Amino acid sequence: MQMLGSLPTNHKQGGHFHRPSVYMLALETSCDESAAAVLHLRGENDISVIAEEISSQAAVHEAYGGVVPELASREHLRNLPYLVDSVLRSASVRLADIGAIAVTRGPGLVGCLLVGLGFAKGLALAKNIPFLGVNHIEGHLFSCMLEDPAQSFPFLALVVSGGHTEVVEVRGLGRYKLHARTSDDAAGEAFDKSAHLLGFPYPGGAALAALADSFGPSSLKLPRVMREAPGFSFSGLKTAIALKIKEESGSHGLSGDRRAAVASAVQEAIVDALVFKLAKVVQETGIRSVALVGGVSANRALQKAVASIPGVRMRVPSALHCTDNAAMIGYVGALRSLRGEKTDFSASALSRWPVENMVFKDET
Ligand code: KG4
Ligand code: ZN
Repeated sequence: MQMLGSLPTNHKQGGHFHRPSVYMLALETSCDESAAAVLHLRGENDISVIAEEISSQAAVHEAYGGVVPELASREHLRNLPYLVDSVLRSASVRLADIGAIAVTRGPGLVGCLLVGLGFAKGLALAKNIPFLGVNHIEGHLFSCMLEDPAQSFPFLALVVSGGHTEVVEVRGLGRYKLHARTSDDAAGEAFDKSAHLLGFPYPGGAALAALADSFGPSSLKLPRVMREAPGFSFSGLKTAIALKIKEESGSHGLSGDRRAAVASAVQEAIVDALVFKLAKVVQETGIRSVALVGGVSANRALQKAVASIPGVRMRVPSALHCTDNAAMIGYVGALRSLRGEKTDFSASALSRWPVENMVFKDET
């Protein structure tokens, strides 16, 4: 383990801590959740989240049926100062005691990322402390470790969110191999677009899943697309669902039971597409430790299906850390800063930033 490098240190009064320690502020503003967290860093195996808050903007975007980037940026700008003030209070940490800042640098909506990045740079510059621009997907990859840091490498991560769907082999910090990625829609998008067609308000994925679970298995079947291709594809599913809804609708639209049957078929098709490819990667690599991360990892049917892949040991973050949050950004920021890394102030927001391109300095 490497020591804290040049980070400013804090020593808790009362003399409990003999090792150098740092309080880190972490910010996440890549999409429609504004989030802040305060972490306490004492070493790679001793990183704790002492306060965190997430403010969802779902209600702001609901009327538009999706995230409106301009509105999202404005909400972040409005939310961040309050969130930061609130997490500092909950953590009983003064701004003056913050020794490093981690912030999502990408991928995500550029206008949204710029809000967090500008806030972090301004604060870091004013306080003369380092800041770390973190890859959002890398945050998701390590999100299971927030609850339980004991994780052996390598493991496979199935990242499933509103913007991303990929299977990544994680060999260590900054050592990733991409095995599969979606060529069009993300799994969360497929859930949300289907939910929209079924009349659920945005984002709709969780509501569709709840209806599907209450109905149980459906005799309706949706086509399975691109099974043999290396990546995922969900765009065809939307057309198939629209056709299925038309087919199943009576003169007054979809009745309660038929709507639930379609919801169940949709969930089954998405889960099947994800698990089919994941199982293939498990078989090809022989890696049986699987982390299910990102917003869609909260889906019960998906959790059950992943856990049933022969030999797989599955980890899922707590519900709070499945969706976007600042704690996971802080965790990766902490790991990197503990190894002496910091980001230059000239770093800009990156709308695209494939996680497999991430490296770490000591990579061999
Ligand atoms: O990771 P996340 O909070 O934000 C992004 O980075 O996109 O993921 C949000 C996505 C949304 O598409 C939402 O509908 C979906 O996760 N989601 C679910 C469930 N809970 C959240 N999809 C299916 N079943 C759920 N239980
Ligand atoms: Zn995310």
